Amino acid sequence: MEQKRYGHFDDLHREYVITDPQTPWPWINYLGNEDFFSLISNTAGGYSFYKDAKFRRITRYRYNNVPMDNGGRYFYLKDGDTVWNPGWKPCKTPLDFYECRHGMSYTRITGRKNGVEASVLFFVPLKKWAEVQKLTLTNQSNEVKHLKLFSFEEWCLWNAATDMENFQRNFSTGEVEIEDSTIYHKTEYRERRNHYAFYHVNTPIQGFDTDRESFIGLYNEFADPQAVMEGKPRNSHAHGWSPIASHYIEVTLQPGESKDFVFLLGYVENEQDQKFAAPQVINKEKAHALIAELNTTEKVDKAFAELCDYWDKLLNIYQVKTANDKLDRMVNIWNQYQCMVTFNFSRSASFFESGIGRGMGFRDSNQDLVGFVHQIPSRARQRIIDIASTQFPDGGCYHQYQPLTKRGNNDIGGGFNDDPCWLIFGTVAYIKETGDFSILDEMVPFDNQPGSEVTLFEHLKISMDHVINNLGPHMLPLIGRADWNDCLNLNCFSWDPNESFQTTENVSEGTKAESLMIAGLFVVTAKDYVALCQKMGKAAEAERMQKAIDAMIEAVKKHGWDGEWYLRAYDFYGRKIGSNECDEGKIFIESQGWCTMAEIGADDGMVAKSLDSCKKYLECEHGMVLNNPAFTKYIYEYGEISSYPEGYKENAGIFCHNNPWVIIGECIAGRGNDAWSHYAKILPSYVEEKYQTLHKVEPYVNCQMVAGKDAFRPGEGKNSWLTGTAAWMWYTVSEFILGIKPDYDGIRIDPCLPETAGDYTVSRKFREADYDITIHPNGSQKGVKQIVLDGQAIDGTVIPYSKGHHVVEVTM
Ligand code: BGC
Repeated sequence: MEQKRYGHFDDLHREYVITDPQTPWPWINYLGNEDFFSLISNTAGGYSFYKDAKFRRITRYRYNNVPMDNGGRYFYLKDGDTVWNPGWKPCKTPLDFYECRHGMSYTRITGRKNGVEASVLFFVPLKKWAEVQKLTLTNQSNEVKHLKLFSFEEWCLWNAATDMENFQRNFSTGEVEIEDSTIYHKTEYRERRNHYAFYHVNTPIQGFDTDRESFIGLYNEFADPQAVMEGKPRNSHAHGWSPIASHYIEVTLQPGESKDFVFLLGYVENEQDQKFAAPQVINKEKAHALIAELNTTEKVDKAFAELCDYWDKLLNIYQVKTANDKLDRMVNIWNQYQCMVTFNFSRSASFFESGIGRGMGFRDSNQDLVGFVHQIPSRARQRIIDIASTQFPDGGCYHQYQPLTKRGNNDIGGGFNDDPCWLIFGTVAYIKETGDFSILDEMVPFDNQPGSEVTLFEHLKISMDHVINNLGPHMLPLIGRADWNDCLNLNCFSWDPNESFQTTENVSEGTKAESLMIAGLFVVTAKDYVALCQKMGKAAEAERMQKAIDAMIEAVKKHGWDGEWYLRAYDFYGRKIGSNECDEGKIFIESQGWCTMAEIGADDGMVAKSLDSCKKYLECEHGMVLNNPAFTKYIYEYGEISSYPEGYKENAGIFCHNNPWVIIGECIAGRGNDAWSHYAKILPSYVEEKYQTLHKVEPYVNCQMVAGKDAFRPGEGKNSWLTGTAAWMWYTVSEFILGIKPDYDGIRIDPCLPETAGDYTVSRKFREADYDITIHPNGSQKGVKQIVLDGQAIDGTVIPYSKGHHVVEVTM
């Protein structure tokens, strides 16, 4: 059945264009690239924060809200008796025209009503702690228009968690100052805070409001604020309760006339001894300076041009040209863009992640690096050091850390036994991209304790040792709290709904719970580690680890193979999980992915059988499900995984993150047709074309989970944006399908393609070189026959690195 469409791609402008505001779920974008960030939906809902969505929340958003998507930066226009918003919400006055363009770190929302057009460009200028909202009003009618314009932002009282909890305090703390056209939010500034926020407009105002109830009216809503409906600001000064910021501006527009207004939502930090200009009066110097930098249309346009230029440069690092638009737009634009967003936010702030519960994840951020490292290697480098600093001396680590403090998160603790391996994964990707081995000599502490520093290389070593030192009865890795699948909680045993599956470990003493996923992950990352050691001349260490790899491979072959696929795990009692012997959950995807990537038992046919089993048992129309058959009841010994209804999340949902593992397994095995068909099923541009209504969430990025074949509504997506899928999709397509792999000494060329693939070109900037690489597949799925570099045939498949511009022709 043809599905309704809500928008379309505009590749030329690198935008997704939403043409109907009533998308099946808010479709959002991210503004800001470092420090100051905003989330913005297609109706201008969302919020802003500085660095940390929990501790420095600037504006308020209502999660779990009805009607949907409440809280945002709203412009109200009163034109005679009609009140409307350019983004349709919150008034929901039907518009004559609506369009939202989500672009690279900016969003432009345009609405038209009764001959007036209001277009707002939202973005965070590079290196600035502010969100710009440039509003352009145009009179497209033949009459003079007298408009009343109200802006609106609602302040969050900084800590987004207590903002939602501690009302006995909150309702008395709110403080603001008003100076000309700027409203300052200074709650708690008198005590321990040295930061404030402000909302400014670059024109004189005819009124304002800073107290929510005065503006909206008791028992009214965002949709019908009394001040707006009556066309009269209250000039209210908030004392406690809920402070807001609203400017009131009277605008007259001649027919055809257009006016710009620059609104600025800014954040400032002051030194302790420079907090006040006078008793009770905040020092506004930095705010004034920031405003002065962005108070005209020209300045804002220039800042916007710089932002666009920044994205041009970033995206030009890797560009592909194939005959397939749907592939090109994901590779060249949206997949890379999503990788930046996941790098910035890990799993903290989205419309599914509240920004309160989770900070940065140890395993998550290491994986995110792989999608980002080619964009800004210096930031990736810092991230690796930050992550490693939350490790413990035994190689274990905090599962999460807070971005503001960079400290490990005690609420969740550690004990997830896959975590350490990911540090190798991230670090190796960084070194291959940059050639910067010096990172391995950086002195990095344990648990952020000064004085405990050892080299980063030592951190990698103990990461590997953590696996080796924690083997179970089959000489396979003990799973700990959980491996990558946070919901397979084999040492938990919980009947108490108030316990968290992930932090409750009721018994682990004497456990036999082992993970085949970690076994595969270990082999893959340990092979990288061995190659790294060899590269560094550490032959003895390489040999030591090679022995551990060999032993692990033997253990998997002996105790990890079920006949047609790899087992998933052993439970606490040493019983098989993910075996034909089980009633449900006979096969799981994670171990198929990692053990095929590790090529365990390839010569004995295990890899091919495992990949075939994925097609037979896991694949469906929308991708590969996590396990099959789905669990139909809660299993006390397995934990959270069986708490989900069939087909959702870790219980047989299509957990997009792990599909690429199998796809890479397919690529390594040279099965290009199969790799491609799995890949296209979860590629957003393919889903966009067919399933906008069913899929629900943003069609320009991957979501974490698509309901699986056993679900009530297969194909429905959830948890968009912040998912390791972004980095894995990138890694898969850029390195394994298109086959451009950074390596220590150059770029390895090793595509794996469907036999229908035509010639294509990749332009790749790599360190101080740029390469134009044309691949001629000639109907072959895998295998490079010849590489010609700048007119000279070379031996092997690695283009040796050298500075400058190079032309490469590859024949398969
Ligand atoms: C988490 C990952 C985890 C995955 C599977 C995600 O929500 O961020 O760390 O590996 O779920 O459970």
